[in-house]
Amino acid sequence: MNARSIRFQLVGWYAGLLIAVFLLLGTLMYAGLKLYLEESLSQAQLRRARQIAETLLANVEKTGEAHVVSEINSWFAPETNDRFIRITRGDGSVLYVSSSPKDASFDAAQVPPLRNAGQESAWRKETAAGKSLLIATVPWQSADGRRFLVEVGVSLDPVRAVLHRLILLLVLGLAAMVAVAVAGGYLLVGKALGPVEKMTQSAEQITLHNLRERLPIAQTGDELERLSISLNHMIARLEDAFQQNRRFIADASHEMRTPLTIMRGELESIVDAAPFASQVQETAASVLEEVERLARIVEGLFAISRLEAGEAQKEYRRFDLAELATSTTEQMCLLAEDKEIALSCTAPRPVMVEGDRARLKQVVVNLLDNAIKYTAQGGKVGLTVTVRDGKAILEVADNGMGIPAEARPHIFERFFRVDKARSREAGGAGLGLSIVKSICAAHGGQVDFQSQEGVGSCFKVELPLADVQNRKLEINHGT
Ligand SMILES: Nc1ncnc2c1ncn2[C@@H]1O[C@H](COP(=O)(O)OP(=O)(O)OP(=O)(O)O)[C@@H](O)[C@H]1O
Ligand SMILES: [Mg+2]
Repeated sequence: MNARSIRFQLVGWYAGLLIAVFLLLGTLMYAGLKLYLEESLSQAQLRRARQIAETLLANVEKTGEAHVVSEINSWFAPETNDRFIRITRGDGSVLYVSSSPKDASFDAAQVPPLRNAGQESAWRKETAAGKSLLIATVPWQSADGRRFLVEVGVSLDPVRAVLHRLILLLVLGLAAMVAVAVAGGYLLVGKALGPVEKMTQSAEQITLHNLRERLPIAQTGDELERLSISLNHMIARLEDAFQQNRRFIADASHEMRTPLTIMRGELESIVDAAPFASQVQETAASVLEEVERLARIVEGLFAISRLEAGEAQKEYRRFDLAELATSTTEQMCLLAEDKEIALSCTAPRPVMVEGDRARLKQVVVNLLDNAIKYTAQGGKVGLTVTVRDGKAILEVADNGMGIPAEARPHIFERFFRVDKARSREAGGAGLGLSIVKSICAAHGGQVDFQSQEGVGSCFKVELPLADVQNRKLEINHGT
């Protein structure tokens, strides 16, 4: 679980609060119960001590001390009472002390004598041989002026046992409550945040290519619903802005094509008409070269804007990608021969795809053009068409200069060229690969590459197969 998520923080906060409240209440309950039990126990012992004093010591001057001892033994026999009883004379000598109780919960002989007994009844806690006792003391003066101190005590073990049981119950109760609260809170918060999760997932899917899609509206009537509506309005505005941008590029490049064609025609006629090797012919030829470059850029831009507007799909039909690759390679042979590059095509069997044949031919041309352009004289360029994983795969591999690592993430961006000067020399505008990418995307496919600087590159185009027949073929051939 992410410790910074709202779910974790809310559940954590309430679990912490619950533990704090429970601990506070538990402590108060423990202290209150302890006080109550000790207080009531001490009151009972005080009553018993007073009873002994008032009934047995009241006439001690007449009955004698021996009578008191026998009376106590018969009334409060330690074997049945489990009590500690001690009567001390004013001079500190002991008149009577009970023997240890039957359950041996304490040793009466080891209870230390009380020093500085006051004139008032009181109670105290005493420890004898590791056992705790609660002892009530009542001072008494007989009719003949003799002073006595009556002490009656009991073991504190039962009180301790009750308090221990309370602690156990509190700990178990706390654990159970926290577990239920955390589990319930986790589920409830998760349910409340469900629409946010759905919105996040949908928002992740929305890219420039599917701006038409919208986020699900959370029908909760709260801030989440407002947020989803606002986000959808924002996406709609973005879609509008991108649409306008695309339309502008499409219109501008379309408008530029005609004047460029006229300029090219005019310049060609100037080059033809000018005297051979004259200054005019040279300048006109140079301007013509630049105009042709400009025309290629405008064509590229026009192609991209049409593709992004979804106009390429008009010419959809079923055709053999292997045959297209073979024929295009043959057409590009001259270009390769100029650089003494060995150009080969391996497309042994038909691979049927569906799409705009002219556009997909442009993909093959652009990739082969790059491979030849960025491979040194005497290099090798190979094109293969196969079926793999239920998809048509077209690969163009070369042993050329490769693409440096820092340039790889940008290679499909418009107007991006690794070495601007060299690419410009070779007539490149940096639009070839972005056109390839747009065509692949428009056909439901994708393009990817692997490259190592100084070793070569391999561009791979994946397209959906036209029908299941190819997939059967793939299984039969085991490719
Ligand atoms: N096979 C390759 N080997 C090495 N570098 C390549 C290869 N293909 C593309 N590149 C690099 O990627 C850049 C972009 O390629 P892209 O095809 O988009 O543009 P371009 O070839 O320069 O111009 P254009 O294709 O518009 O004529 C190129 O400038 C080149 O630096
Ligand atoms: Mg190119």
